[in-house]
Amino acid sequence: MKLGVLCSGGDSPGMNAAIRGAVLRGVEVHGFEMIGFVDGWRGFHDDEWVPLNRAAVRGISPLGGVFLGTSRVQPFVGKRGDEADMQVIRDRVAQHGLDGFLLIGGNGTQTVAHLLSEAGIPAIGLPKTIDNDLGGTDYTFGFDTAVSIAAEAIDRLRTTGESHRRCMVLEVMGRDAGWIALHAGMAGGAQVILVPEFQESIEQICEWVLSVRDRGRSSLVIVAEGFRLEGGGHVTKEGLDVMGRPRLGGIADVLAPLIEARTGIETRSTVLGHLQRGGSPTAFDRVLATRTGMAAADAAHAGRWGTMAGLHGNRIEMVPLADAVGRLKTVPEDRYEEVRLNFG
Ligand code: F6P
Repeated sequence: MKLGVLCSGGDSPGMNAAIRGAVLRGVEVHGFEMIGFVDGWRGFHDDEWVPLNRAAVRGISPLGGVFLGTSRVQPFVGKRGDEADMQVIRDRVAQHGLDGFLLIGGNGTQTVAHLLSEAGIPAIGLPKTIDNDLGGTDYTFGFDTAVSIAAEAIDRLRTTGESHRRCMVLEVMGRDAGWIALHAGMAGGAQVILVPEFQESIEQICEWVLSVRDRGRSSLVIVAEGFRLEGGGHVTKEGLDVMGRPRLGGIADVLAPLIEARTGIETRSTVLGHLQRGGSPTAFDRVLATRTGMAAADAAHAGRWGTMAGLHGNRIEMVPLADAVGRLKTVPEDRYEEVRLNFG
């Protein structure tokens, strides 16, 4: 069997470990031939690829980023799933004699994997994204690393904030899901956690900040980039993302002066940005990604195309791609209420 491996979307810590897991199991155990397309669909379209074997993946699990490269280049030139585009993909697959794809990516990539499978192009998904917003799995690899980095940022902001009796506002990523803010905020003991799924008023936020001050402490507010103030819209940066959506970012810089003006407490903002995606994956992400890669190779060997390797409890199980895509996994109300009761 010959497999093509391709990464798509933003990078996520653990992608190297996933490729290593898939190659160790695929090449060494099942006797597959494997190739990796460079920079995702860009390399696929330009026919740029590298052989994947044991030597190619030696020592890469602790490394951040992804050695194959990734991009947000789309597989389809026309409308998603266009037959003309499918034929281009089929031709390239035939040229290399590929029996199937292992596609490493988030929601968009797994949607593509599903479309390919539906069109008879065999594909298996490996779920990665720091946002953890993909269905069909308890956690995506990369999330734990992003949360750890954000929690450490809270610890550091807290000591400087407390020293100056300042309110510190930390902005984290996550697009339309508040998982990074929720988990990092809990881990770091943030006094206010603001997520895209639930709006709050500036009056309420300031009330929490003042109650923290009244008991002699300084507030740490963590805010997800997709959070909207009650009655307000998203705060965005210039330009559109690949889906044609406005790029999110800057909510911390909007909130900080509002909090300062209303409470009289000096307030500073920090945008964590791509720091939360870079660097070495946590041990949890390395293990999750390695097991995901191994399970994906096993699934290819068993002909279980059209599935994604998801974490359920402590088991990696293959779920139909159709069940994993189409709906974002966002923070449910009970998880938000659990922390909101202790804000302030
Ligand atoms: O999906 C991962 C993610 O990091 C989001 O949290 C964020 O909104 C986006 O990617 C940023 O994308 P880029 O790296 O292309 O600016």
